[in-house]
Order: sequence, then C-alpha cells, then structure tokens
Amino acid sequence: MKGAVRSAQRHDSALKHVTGQALYIDDMPEPPGTLHAALVLSPVASGRLMKLDLSAAAASRGVVATLVAADIPGRNSTAGPGKEEPLFAVDRVEFAGQPLAMVVADTLDAARAAAGRAVIEIEETEAILDIATALARQAYVQAPSTLRRGDPEAALAAAPHRLSAEFSVGGQEHFYLEGQIAFALPGEDGDLVVHSSTQHPTEVQHVCAQLLGCDFNRVTAVVRRLGGGFGGKESNASWVAGAAALAAHRTGRPVKLRLPREIDMIATGKRHGFDYRYTVGFDGDGRVLALDAMLAADAGFSLDLTPGVIARALTHTDNAYWIPHFRAVGYACKTNKQSNTAFRGFGGPQGVVVMEDALDRIARHLGRDANEIRALNFYRAGTDETPYGQTVDENHLARCWAEVKQGGEFERRRAEVDAFNRTSPILKRGLGLFPLKFGISFNVAHMNQAGALVHVYTDGSIRLNHGGTEMGQGLFIKVAQVVAEVFKVDVDRIRPSATSTAEVPNTSPTAASTGSDLNGWAAWEAANTIKTRMIAFASEHFGAAEKDVEFADGTVRIAKPGSNQVVSFGELAKLCWMGRVSLSATGFYKTPKIHWDAAAMRGRPFFYFSFGAAMAEVAVDTLTGESRVLRADLVQDCGASLNPAIDLGQIEGAFVQGQGWFTCEELWWDAKGLLRTVGPSTYKIPGSRDAPRVFNVKMLENAASREATIFRSKAVGEPPLLLATAVWTALKDAIAAAGDGKTAVRLDAPATPERVLAAIATVKA
Ligand code: MTE
Ligand code: MOS
Repeated sequence: MKGAVRSAQRHDSALKHVTGQALYIDDMPEPPGTLHAALVLSPVASGRLMKLDLSAAAASRGVVATLVAADIPGRNSTAGPGKEEPLFAVDRVEFAGQPLAMVVADTLDAARAAAGRAVIEIEETEAILDIATALARQAYVQAPSTLRRGDPEAALAAAPHRLSAEFSVGGQEHFYLEGQIAFALPGEDGDLVVHSSTQHPTEVQHVCAQLLGCDFNRVTAVVRRLGGGFGGKESNASWVAGAAALAAHRTGRPVKLRLPREIDMIATGKRHGFDYRYTVGFDGDGRVLALDAMLAADAGFSLDLTPGVIARALTHTDNAYWIPHFRAVGYACKTNKQSNTAFRGFGGPQGVVVMEDALDRIARHLGRDANEIRALNFYRAGTDETPYGQTVDENHLARCWAEVKQGGEFERRRAEVDAFNRTSPILKRGLGLFPLKFGISFNVAHMNQAGALVHVYTDGSIRLNHGGTEMGQGLFIKVAQVVAEVFKVDVDRIRPSATSTAEVPNTSPTAASTGSDLNGWAAWEAANTIKTRMIAFASEHFGAAEKDVEFADGTVRIAKPGSNQVVSFGELAKLCWMGRVSLSATGFYKTPKIHWDAAAMRGRPFFYFSFGAAMAEVAVDTLTGESRVLRADLVQDCGASLNPAIDLGQIEGAFVQGQGWFTCEELWWDAKGLLRTVGPSTYKIPGSRDAPRVFNVKMLENAASREATIFRSKAVGEPPLLLATAVWTALKDAIAAAGDGKTAVRLDAPATPERVLAAIATVKA
C-alpha cells in the first residue's frame, strides 16, 4: 500500500507547483463578461474624509461601476458584530492605504487607471505612528491584559540579583507569492460563488453575506489552494473577497479583485511589532525567581486578530522555563497603520524572545555560559505548571536540548568560535542555542472543531473533502494519507477536493498549526463510518464474522473456515452499492481536554505542547554590520510524523522565514505614516543563499504524542519558525565578542547591518 501514514510522500501538487500547472485563482478561465476591480486607497494616515469624487474615474474608458460605502446593501463591516472594521472608510481615515472605494472595469488596466483618477480630500489629523506614542496616550484597541502568578513584586524585591532591559522587534510582511485575490461569480436569485485565496472560507462566506445583507446560504466560498498564506489570509482575505462579492452583486457579472504587490503590502496587515521592558530576578546560580514584563504590540488601527496574538504572546513569555513569580502585561497599541494580524507563530515568537534576552543578560552578569543557565531553568516534566496553570506533563525539552548539542558538537564548536574570535579582529562569530515549547490549539475553545466529507465510489476511488485549506503546507496529502490508512488503499485512489463552504460548513480557519490535527481526525471519523458499514455488509454478504473482514493493500479479505475470499476494495464498494449501503459520510472532531478563562488567563488552552531546540552559528562583519548564518542544527518534535517529507520541508521553511524576521525583513514607514517598503526591491525576504550553508534538520525520534492526536502526530506549521531565535542569540554572541565579551548586547530585530553596527558601537564604547 502506497502512502500509508508516517511514510514520506511528496506534496500532491509538487510537480504542478514546479511546472506551473497548479491552478491558482488568477489562472482560472474567465467567463465572458468578467470584470476587474481596483481599489482606491487613502493617501494619508489619519484624517477626516471631506470629499471623495469618483466622477472622473466613472467616466474613464472601460469603467462599469464605482463603489463607495454608501453602495453597500448590508453592513459596512468586514468583522463580527460590535467590531469597527469598515470595508470602505466613511468620515474617518485611519491609515495610509485604507480602502475608500473601488472601481470596476472591463480590463484590469482600465480599472487601475481609473482608480488613479479618484479625487480625494482629507483633512489631516495627527497620526500615532509608533508604540511609544500609543502607550503614552493609552491608545489601545483593547484593554491591557495581564498574566500573573505568585507575587512578582515581592519576589523581585527579595531576589539576590535583578536586571532590567528594553528592546523591540519589528513586524513582518507575509510575502505570500500569490497576492490576495478573489473571484466572485453571481448566480440566480442573488446566489454567489466566491473563489478566494483564503485560510478561512467560512469567514469569507460570512463577510460576503454581511456586506450584501443576505443569508449565509446564498454564498459559497471555494478554495482549491493558496499560493501561501502564513496567517496573512486568515482575516485579510475576507475583505478582499467581500469587495469582489459586492462588485459582482452590483454589476451582475463575474468580478475579479487581485491586489498588485504594492497595494497588497500597503493595504493589508502584517506581523505585530513589539516593544518590551522587563525586570528579571535571579539567584547566584542563575536560577530565575521572578519576571515582570511589559509586552506592547503595534496592533495597527483596528482589533482584527490582535486579542489572540496578545494572548499567545503572554502564554509564551515563559517559553521553556519555570518562573515561580510571574507577571506579563500585554498592551494592544492602536496606531494609524495597517491592522496587524496573524503571522506564523501568532504572537508566540514575540513572547519567547523576552526570556531568551533575559537569560543572556543573566549569564553575562554572572560570567556563566548562557546555555547552562537555560537548561537550569527548564520546566521539570510532569510537575511544573505554566503561569496560566497548565501542567507541562509531556516534556521533551531535555531530550531536544541534548540532541541538538550533541549533533551540533556544541563543546567543540564553542571552543572553535572562541578561538576564531581571539585571532580575528574584523569578522566575529557567534553561537546561539534556543529551546522551544509551543502550545497547540486555538486559544478560543470553540474554534477547535472540524468536519469532513468522504465519498467512496463504486470503482473504489474516493473523494475527500474537509474544512482545511491547502496553502502549500501539505495538509491535503496528510489528510489523504489518513483516509488511505483507514481503507488500506493506495493514497492515489484518494482525490482531495477544493475546500468549500457548501461541502463542509461552519469551519474554523486553517491556522494555529491545527490543520492536520483537526481535519485528520474528522476525515478519519468519516472514513471509519463508511468502513464500518462496509464491514457489516461484507460480513452478512459473505457469511463471515465482522472480525474476519480485513482491509489490506487495496483488497478486502474475508476469512472463513476453509474458504478465504478476497475481493478488491472497489469490488466490495460495488457490492455495497448493490446492497443499498451508503458509501458517503461526514466526520466531525472536537479537541478534547481544553478550556480557557480569557479574563483570568487561566486554564488549559493547549491540547499539547510541541518541543524543539536549535543551535545556530553566525558570522558578523564588524565593519559593515553584515551577517551570515553559517550553520544551523535543528531538532523538532513532530510526534509520530504523518509525513516526514512534508514535515522536514515545513521545518526548513519556517526556520528560514523566522531568520528573515530576525535579520533582513524590515518594514519602513515614513514620517507621514506611508509604508515605503512595498515590494521585493525595498523589502528583503531571505533567499536561497541566506539559508544556513550547513543545515542539519532532524525530527525528534520516538516521540509519539502522549495525547490522542491523529496517529500520534503533532502539528508542525508554526513551531519551527521560533527556532530561528537561535540566530538572534548567536548574533548577540558575535557582537559581544567585538567588545570585552562581558557586556550584554541590546539587539533589536530585525538585525539589519545598521542595527548590528549600532550594537557593536555600544559594546566597544
Ligand atoms: N507552509 C506553506 N508552504 N505555506 C503557508 O502559507 N502557513 C503556515 C504553516 N506553513 C504556511 C505554511 C501557518 S501560519 C500555519 S498556521 C500552518 O501552516 C497552517 O497549516 P496547518 O495547520 O495545516 O499546519
Ligand atoms: Mo497561522 S499564523 O495560525 O495562519
């Protein structure tokens, strides 16, 4: 049987991806009469919209319609009830790039040219463009939230040693290769089919219905694949689809809205940048006694997914460490910028950096090896509780740590790097280690559910549908392997189909790395329901006990005393049909054991933790500030991996994406709040030559999940992104070597050459 679970299978679309044959929305044949839309965006960050004159745009060649807020038949909102997230701004403009209107024309060029003829008058008001200003004015999109345990104030006061520090990390553009796009096709009676490049088809359905003022059952959202999402198409795809739906509704014709890269970068939210301030208390051995931390996120102009990002940042501030007295306060700062959103890690990366910074400072202060101090503070398995009250029962920290140090030859290379630095005045090297603990599940309990729909046809081929979306991460092949395993047929017999709100309704977004955990189980349930019916039928038909009906290698064996019978899977399917047995079933799954009190910030928000460890070596040129990652050794816990080929790819990709966040990806707004990094010429994502020259990636062996996850596998989508924290730590190590080696380094991310040089100047001074 080909394609069983735990076997390495290539992505079902791999060949189509690399040969250009995979169909993305912009590749779909356009029905006659298709129109194209372009957005009119606010050129200023904050102000009152005094005039929006679209008459010149409307009179332009090829233009069929122009739309503003007043043309929305339903509610001008792209978010749930009570949330202020207008599709088109009315009266008040809140960031440079905010959509004000839309032009629909018979060609894309005509729509874009006409959109440029909109006459916009905005009376500017003062904009808040950074976290510090928002904090000073207490401008928040939600009230500050606190995760607390014990008595951090008293414990800090009593601690033998205390250190305080500040630093910041920047945001990150998703830079999915396929930009935001939606194609809306009107049907009869106001029905609408929307092809959307979204991680959240159900939200697309809801937002379209809300804008149009119709029932959900009028709108079908369909997603075959995304050319990358990375969190950027969890909520932002909804308003893009909503705008296309609105135009289709208005014109009665198919409308495509595709954002060009520049507009995409200007109009959509990104990873949240954070500012930090903390005080850590510890004893003479480096044991952490208390932490008091402030994490302030740049939320942008509206709420979006910021509450979840803050909650994940706070629940990951502890990272791998037992901190008896703990306080972390999360601020969601309201600025006149794009509304920041989900991005791989979802606040987790922004949470763990606090302790990594603190432990480096503690080590330098005590003159000790930071990695010994790290290990000294690890959670102890089975006994220690996180600050939010979840016991770290399964705990692979020590194993991952030992493996990465051994595989990376830590002791030898530490000595080598130190020796190199003694004799190299200009180039400096650094080593960094990082332990990872990442919680898996949506922080909102009700989101942890999924559905699937499986059909077996009479030739034995199988059609598979579930609520998860395929964005390149390999979800479809993994879930197909689960179904293949249930029926014991080759995975090629299973045809994954486009995600659709008409097939599996009321779905959660494919996010929080839970895609295969949730949809894998839902598909297993559906397949197993059909299999149970097939067994019952076979038992009756062949006169054998149910336990003697066995599925293996594409066949079904019916063991009877003296006369074994073997039929193919397809033959049994056909017999079942003749016997009037239903060969179609839905499946449903909800994650057990989780609960969360969001106000108290206590509970068990995560079904389980995923663990890992990383070691990175970097070189820094102290004259130019340029840096390179020379080598990385990674160990990632994937439980019993469903598909080692896919998971290794996820680990490598996530690490390099994290490396980009820590090093070269810099978002830059000018003094007026206009984003000036709007394409690959000004915004640098890591390329193939930035990947570590030596890149040793391993999955933790013998790590079958202790919880009943699907075939004991674990989520992999986001956790390895955090492993790139080792690069940041290594850069600080190299920079410290440019000074006396005893001075702690403040290095804000992204560690661009400019920032690296500035940090070198502080240790040399
Ligand atoms: N991998 C690829 N190739 N493309 C993507 O857009 N998104 C990441 C991760 N890996 C992404 C990816 C993010 S942000 C998440 S949450 C998970 O995939 C979602 O998919 P999963 O739950 O099936 O792992
Ligand atoms: Mo991923 S940030 O949860 O879409």
